[in-house]
Amino acid sequence: MNQIITNIMIEDHKRIENILMHLNSKIKSKEFRENFNFFKSELEKHMIIEEKSILKTYNPEKYNQDVVKKIISEHKELIKMIKEIEKDQNPESSFLAFSELLIEHKDFENNKLYPKLDKELTKEQKEQIFQKIKKQKEM
Ligand SMILES: [Fe+2]
Ligand SMILES: [Fe+2]
Repeated sequence: MNQIITNIMIEDHKRIENILMHLNSKIKSKEFRENFNFFKSELEKHMIIEEKSILKTYNPEKYNQDVVKKIISEHKELIKMIKEIEKDQNPESSFLAFSELLIEHKDFENNKLYPKLDKELTKEQKEQIFQKIKKQKEM
């Protein structure tokens, strides 16, 4: 239970990173768009879990903390970059910039945000978050 949020989210990050790497290998092929749509929907689901199941359960006072604000503003930036990639005829450089931000973002979550939450939250709060994640993943 100690590192439960960190562990679950590291697993989910690995899964998304694998899809990202696969996508990167398709950058010059026709399959890129189709693969990108799948990646996009997986990433969106992941960010909804982070915002709705995790960060909102982290109490409202703490919800205003700089780390939480940073995460939410980076999610917005990532969504903006996704839209740019979708419009881009030749998305190599926009995809690279997006990938760099995404990797940096997930490293921050893995190393700072989630260990912080695991340290600050009670066993009961973590259990509550865990159940919410499970429920959202089934949807
Ligand atoms: Fe995130
Ligand atoms: Fe994440």
